Amino acid sequence: MSKFLISTLIAIIFIGAISAQSAPSNCMTTLGGKKYNFSGFGNSTSWSFVVAGTNPTTYYWNVCAAASKCNSIKPTTPASCQFQSNTYRNTGDLASGSFVNYNAGSSGGGAIKYTTTGSPCKSGNTRTTTVQMTCTPGKANIVTGADENPVGSCLYEVQLSGKSACPTTTPTTSGTTTGGDDGSSHSQETSSSHSGEKPKKKGLSGGWIFIIILLCSITVYLVVGVIINAKVRHMHGTDMIPNKNFWVEFGALIKDGVFFIKSKITRSNSGYQQV
Ligand SMILES: *[C@@H]1O[C@H](CO)[C@@H](O)[C@H](O)[C@H]1NC(C)=O
Ligand SMILES: *[C@@H]1O[C@H](CO)[C@@H](O)[C@H](O)[C@H]1NC(C)=O
Repeated sequence: MSKFLISTLIAIIFIGAISAQSAPSNCMTTLGGKKYNFSGFGNSTSWSFVVAGTNPTTYYWNVCAAASKCNSIKPTTPASCQFQSNTYRNTGDLASGSFVNYNAGSSGGGAIKYTTTGSPCKSGNTRTTTVQMTCTPGKANIVTGADENPVGSCLYEVQLSGKSACPTTTPTTSGTTTGGDDGSSHSQETSSSHSGEKPKKKGLSGGWIFIIILLCSITVYLVVGVIINAKVRHMHGTDMIPNKNFWVEFGALIKDGVFFIKSKITRSNSGYQQV
């Protein structure tokens, strides 16, 4: 039982470490070799656009967050919906969001695609909303349109433009920004010359918070384990370490693994020196 718990813990550490690296909820991505931070498009009251006609349709959406106007839709959390004939219909789940290229002209831009299977479409398509964001340097973020393209396809395009759709610029001196975002981002990234490098992020991502919680849990496990072993089981010295035998075995396994990998590397080094 304790072996199972510990294997689970180890798996969780790996998952935590991976999500600490990618943190997909931060609304930042690289498209066409340019870095973007679309979080300035977050709108707590939802973006909206009305398509007039005999049966007027209002499109509501948000970027990288739930659209508050769609919150009567259950059980999923939409990032976009439409309001027509007194009914709200899901047009894209927040959880489905993915960044896609959007050919937005010379200044750049990008798009986020949201899909949902929550409200089936007559055409057979998966209902999809593509939030198209066009960079207009230094300009406020605004709605520029929304439509279903083509009509009846359940494929919706909603359009935003503004400074938050511009590639993030590299500030040269601290205290000044060179355009692009809203001026609050100049402490984030000081160099983009190493193309593979992760931008230095302010604050903690979900993954790191997770690792911290995990380390706290491990501390509690050790402290409680030692207390129980000492007070209840009347153990002494290193025997007080919780699940001591397991950890000794585990240590030996890791050691074997390290030696195995080391021997492989040493061998391949001598075999493929020209590589
Ligand atoms: C991304 O943009 C938001 C809003 O414009 C800003 O608050 C945030 O600091 C930016 N994040 C980074 C890492 O540049
Ligand atoms: C949110 O969207 C509404 C409707 O499109 C718009 O009027 C408002 O200015 C937006 N809010 C922000 C903070 O951009």
